[in-house]
Amino acid sequence: MNLLVLGLQWGDEGKGKAIDFLAGNFNVVVRYQGGHNAGHTIYYKGKKVILHLLPSGIFTNNTISIIAQGVVINPIQLVKEIKNISLMGISTDKLIVSMNAPVILPFHQKLDIIFENSRYLKIGTTKRGIGPAYEDLVGRRAVFIRDLIDKDKFYKRVKPLNDYYSKLIRSYDGEEVSINSYIDEYLESGVFLKKHSKNTTYLLNELYMEGKSILFEGAQGVLLDVNQGTYPYVTSSNTCVGGVFTGTGLPHKAVEKVIGISKAYTTRVGEGPFPTELFEEESDFLREKGNEFGSTTGRPRRVGWLDLVALKYSVMINGVNSVFVTKLDIFDEFDEIKVVTDYEINGEQNQIFDPSIDYLNEVEPVFKSFPGWKKSICNVKTFDDLPEKTKYYIKFIENYIKTPVEYISVGTQREQTINR
Ligand code: IMP
Repeated sequence: MNLLVLGLQWGDEGKGKAIDFLAGNFNVVVRYQGGHNAGHTIYYKGKKVILHLLPSGIFTNNTISIIAQGVVINPIQLVKEIKNISLMGISTDKLIVSMNAPVILPFHQKLDIIFENSRYLKIGTTKRGIGPAYEDLVGRRAVFIRDLIDKDKFYKRVKPLNDYYSKLIRSYDGEEVSINSYIDEYLESGVFLKKHSKNTTYLLNELYMEGKSILFEGAQGVLLDVNQGTYPYVTSSNTCVGGVFTGTGLPHKAVEKVIGISKAYTTRVGEGPFPTELFEEESDFLREKGNEFGSTTGRPRRVGWLDLVALKYSVMINGVNSVFVTKLDIFDEFDEIKVVTDYEINGEQNQIFDPSIDYLNEVEPVFKSFPGWKKSICNVKTFDDLPEKTKYYIKFIENYIKTPVEYISVGTQREQTINR
């Protein structure tokens, strides 16, 4: 069965671990949107590894890992990641990269930083050039992986863009990037990536028709979707279910099941509305316990209670079949755990997550409190063996979102996962 794994919040839900746990059963694992703004943390043989571009299936023998054309690729970063993973003794022979994926160029990163510093609304981007690279795609001037192979072609495609953006960068008093400073490195990366590059649309459709099982690895989270998320505090791609089809070129029926990943609480990096956010000592405690520091940027994550109004919205707009709750063990020492069940606005309560910032900045969260279970659950292997109070918390969530919780993560290791 082909499975889509999506983050249901603002990213960092623990997709890396969930996908690594699930990937063993799949022939193919695909990344289809985003870029190296993602940071999927996996523990491999007890060692922490953070993947930014490589699909998490890379750790599983015989799995074909595909980076499809919806991903914006910084080829220098990708080559670095491939080399690092090879040094760990992991084979990258089954890695395929779309030759039609747009390339992130050095001026994209520069523009990301300039726009962030000059915008009246700061987004808090990862400053990796993701937004400007997608802007070039939509603006019909993108450069692709296939353009990295031939020097003349690359120069012809990139030079006008580089000149255009140099003017813009200078107008912000920035230092322009000369094409000569990066052309050789980019072409070398093209040579390195050549043996991995293919038309992944055809490849994926062939694999699909052969009946191979495919796992689609979403990056970021549903609430960061450029169309359905908390705009403008979003990323520049479609993190929702639709991104799979535009990003891979597979037909809609290729996704047979959607598993949504949600932390037992909520986090967010960057700016934007966050109705259940905690502050001061309460947030420090949760942040420390959950080790909530960005895996891509190292930034301390904003933390808060689980927002069931938001979760229900994410489940609804993606047709989520079941939920994988992560980091439940982080609550082991908590006296009290809360969730938000309603929003109050103008004296009335509702369960509507309208992603507009004007609305979300105004709503007052209505909390429900649960007593903590006050014992370690990190070695529990079955749902039945969890403390009654933990089971109650999980059952409350499923009742609210009307969707089963199929997996529960109680620690960082692959084995610390309860499959109901
Ligand atoms: P960008 O994707 O770098 O343009 O950043 C836009 C917004 O998405 C910022 O709030 C980032 O913090 C957030 N973001 C991007 N990638 C991730 C991720 O992998 N996890 C969590 N937040 C992310």
